[in-house]
Amino acid sequence: MKTAIINDLTGNETLKTIFERRAVRKYRPDMIDDDVLNKILDAGCMAPSAMNGQPWKFYIATHKDTIASFSEAIVKIMPKMAIKETLKHPVATIKTLLHELPHTMHSGGEDPIFHGAPVVVFITAPKDNEWAGLDIGMCAQNLMLAAKSLGLDSCPIGFAKFIEQTPVFHRLEVPDGETVQLAVILGYGVEKPEPHPRAEHNVIFIDRMECC
Ligand SMILES: Cc1cc2nc3c(=O)[nH]c(=O)nc-3n(C[C@H](O)[C@H](O)[C@H](O)COP(=O)(O)O)c2cc1C
Repeated sequence: MKTAIINDLTGNETLKTIFERRAVRKYRPDMIDDDVLNKILDAGCMAPSAMNGQPWKFYIATHKDTIASFSEAIVKIMPKMAIKETLKHPVATIKTLLHELPHTMHSGGEDPIFHGAPVVVFITAPKDNEWAGLDIGMCAQNLMLAAKSLGLDSCPIGFAKFIEQTPVFHRLEVPDGETVQLAVILGYGVEKPEPHPRAEHNVIFIDRMECC
């Protein structure tokens, strides 16, 4: 853990928000105010994007039953998708499954994909945008930091992509030319996970100038 940075956050709300955000997987059922949700979505739209493409679109589910049915549909096709993805990218898929699958058990069987969050934001981008992965990542991070700054919690949900392979996908009404890149769940968390230790020895100055 790079404690030197963490110990010096006083007075800097932005850094505090960045360091305090966690992937939260337990939520109160309370709905998010429209005003608060709009602020979070506006923050997502303020993300940088390649060639100012702003490729994101948000499809939002807020009904418990809708979210539960999406979760159930994804769980059903997970084994099939896991095999398919493992054949395409064996190392990456096995690593992902080993890390993320235990979290699907975390909810004790109820809503294992969206963890009982009251709001799920599916983020899509045009299928033919080669920068979409990066743009959507930045947009999602803005959503999550904005949420944290407003007293909410969040978690990115990569498994949400599998919604496209389920019979309930049509309910999102995503047009043919778009694809789901990621979902972000939002709500008032009821857990405060400890931060994971961060990787070290990953900063390499290739040509360090002295500071004046
Ligand atoms: C692209 C991406 C996909 C993720 N997918 C899932 C997911 O499907 N389910 C889940 O519970 N967490 C998911 N996570 C959350 C990560 O597990 C979490 O960010 C990581 O363990 C680090 O924890 P932290 O966010 O609290 O620092 C995902 C994170 C990212 C960036």
